[in-house]
Amino acid sequence: MSTTNPACLSSITAVLTALVLFAAIFSGMTVSDVTTNPVPTPSPTIDAVARGESLAYDMGCIGCHYIGSKTAAAFNGLYNSERLLTNETTVIADEVYLRESILDPRAKIPDGYARGIHPSDFRVRLSDQQIDYIIAYIISLADN
Ligand code: HEC
Repeated sequence: MSTTNPACLSSITAVLTALVLFAAIFSGMTVSDVTTNPVPTPSPTIDAVARGESLAYDMGCIGCHYIGSKTAAAFNGLYNSERLLTNETTVIADEVYLRESILDPRAKIPDGYARGIHPSDFRVRLSDQQIDYIIAYIISLADN
């Protein structure tokens, strides 16, 4: 009885070679898979300004606040500008002023615009973070 059948040995070698090749191909595929299809990383791709812009459209802000509007001031050039108020004082339109104007429109009325038109319910319709995004959008338009 022969224990080393040459035919058997060569088929074992063939199987081993196939395994090694398979492993090499498999690991090669894995590497190229990772480089061509990276795992998607969450969030930082969509930035605050873009979110704020779509909110400004979705919430109707742009329906009143657009260039040439007589209803309300455009967001363009608003940030850090000096606002004359109906009580004849002036204020710089910084983040604090923007937030207050969005949430509590009665607090300060810019000269030339009517009170009671800017919706007074954004406090319940927008989260703090959404307001931050809208402010980021308004800031991005500072030089426009
Ligand atoms: C129906 C029209 C209308 C809509 C919609 C509206 N606003 Fe206003 N907004 C006004 C008017 C009118 C004023 C000026 C009078 C006042 O302050 O109430 C104003 C004032 C402001 C101010 C102060 C601007 C200035 O001239 O100094 C900011 C900032 C502002 N709105 C942001 C927003 C944002 C952000 C939204 C959406 C989330 C929005 N508004 C939606 C009409 C509107």
